[in-house]
Amino acid sequence: MEKTTTFPLRYTVFVLSLAGFILSLIISISVGAGAIFPIIFGALSALGIYDLRQRKHTVSRNYPIVAHIRYLLESFGPEIRQYFIQSDTEERPFSREQRAIVYQRAKNVLDKRPFGSQLSMYEEGFEWINHSMTPNTITESDFRVVIGKQCAKPYSASVFNISAMSFGALSANAIKSLNTGARMGGFYHDTGEGSISRYHKQPGGDLVWEIGSGYFGCRNKDGTFNADMFRENANLDQVKMIEVKLSQGAKPGHGGILPGAKVTAEIAEARGVSIGEDCVSPSSHSAFSNPVELLEFIDHLRELSGGKPVGFKLAIGHPWEWFAIVKAMLETGRKPDFIVVDGGEGGTGAAPLEFINRLGTPMTEALLLVHNTLVGTNLREDIAIGAAGKITSAFNIARTLALGADWCNSARGYMFSLGCIQALSCHTGHCPSGVATQDPRRGEKLDVELKSQRVYNFHKNTLDALKHLLEASGLRHTSELGPEHIIRRVSKTEVHSYLDLFHFLEPGELLAGETGHAVFDRYWPHVTADSFDAPEFMLKLRETKLR
Ligand SMILES: Cc1cc2nc3c(=O)[nH]c(=O)nc-3n(C[C@H](O)[C@H](O)[C@H](O)COP(=O)(O)O)c2cc1C
Repeated sequence: MEKTTTFPLRYTVFVLSLAGFILSLIISISVGAGAIFPIIFGALSALGIYDLRQRKHTVSRNYPIVAHIRYLLESFGPEIRQYFIQSDTEERPFSREQRAIVYQRAKNVLDKRPFGSQLSMYEEGFEWINHSMTPNTITESDFRVVIGKQCAKPYSASVFNISAMSFGALSANAIKSLNTGARMGGFYHDTGEGSISRYHKQPGGDLVWEIGSGYFGCRNKDGTFNADMFRENANLDQVKMIEVKLSQGAKPGHGGILPGAKVTAEIAEARGVSIGEDCVSPSSHSAFSNPVELLEFIDHLRELSGGKPVGFKLAIGHPWEWFAIVKAMLETGRKPDFIVVDGGEGGTGAAPLEFINRLGTPMTEALLLVHNTLVGTNLREDIAIGAAGKITSAFNIARTLALGADWCNSARGYMFSLGCIQALSCHTGHCPSGVATQDPRRGEKLDVELKSQRVYNFHKNTLDALKHLLEASGLRHTSELGPEHIIRRVSKTEVHSYLDLFHFLEPGELLAGETGHAVFDRYWPHVTADSFDAPEFMLKLRETKLR
């Protein structure tokens, strides 16, 4: 692994303390000065040594002594924020309250709250789940969904898994901890487009292998798809499903490059590239160029994998392009086994501001579109739907399943369980918690044994909380959640259930004709299965502009 040779500035206080201790001790002994300075510097040096040797707090290991200033400020930070700056629900992208519940569940400490809700229940957008007069008792919280029922090797997935994040974006110890937690809890770990590294393999947890446009782990020298390499990796027992990445909510339509300087031996080994060579993910795939070819590619991958479920992940952009894929399914009879919908509110290691803020349909609308199109074309029974987009609590899972998903994934939720403090420095390599960095001296401080347990706890305690929500709602399984269960306030005086708020299609309705829903009625009749192009009438509209 790449070693940094310069002296890390973050150790400065520790080194100065050691120097101060030695110097003040010499002066104290030689001229008989008092012991006050040796005691102060000695105590600081001892604290620094303790910080470096302990394994519980990665931030302290990376920032000996200095980290305590952060802990000190943090200990009265809530009070300062409460009185002067912001509330527990304001911080972005994840509020203190959202993060706190993950930390507590990951640490297996009390996640109860006193006195009553701090949320503004009369503010527009407030949501809740309705309870029942006849609550249930559910014995097991390990809710599962079978994906690829029609495949030779279907997969029984947990309803809450680790979303795609590559080795390269995350440190080796972060990957090991996530995969070990996944193994302990029986849920899946998506590799991200950086493919399967040795750190994914060591723990042996279930993997979903993501294939991005760079075809890492299954590519020829020129960056095109290599079927033999794919077959070899896809047939690993640990790989349970294959996910073709079409796009990601935080940066749809944006390729990526991992500069050669960052391509270490381990990254090169996982991705099938040379050490030091730029790792380029183009903005689109070379293995297919239209909807029919995409489905042919998926069928080809399923065959090469020996019958494992194969699907794709996408953020919704132009609706006609998504409709074209569905039309291709109807015309060819070829279908993905699953689709993962990523919301525009999703995260990334690094992306331009406009991409993060202004591209990618938010998860609620994207999921509704995908679910409704499949219901309206009678395809929903054959295709499972997963969803991701700031899902960190049991209520987040419940509302996403109520909108139409079968299961949920979380990326940043699991990062918090690893100790991520939302320092927003994933793109700098200086992640203080050792999660999103390739600096071995930072990443190595993340204790795999402890953090694996936390990943496991977060999953388990979140699903236990989901079980309690279902019990209170009189339901027995996550599959029973529907739009009638979730209510949203739309004004000071009005609330609606999702059932009334959103348009849900009847099975087969889209095939029968008009749906009364603008996006379907405007575009569906005009798209064709063999092209992602905009419908003809829209191209005509464009001609009305200046040229
Ligand atoms: C550090 C980081 C790296 C990511 N890398 C990938 C990736 O390689 N492939 C991918 O499809 N999505 C990637 N994502 C997106 C997540 O898998 C996920 O879809 C998105 O963040 C929404 O989930 P969240 O809101 O729970 O974070 C990444 C996200 C983060 C935060």
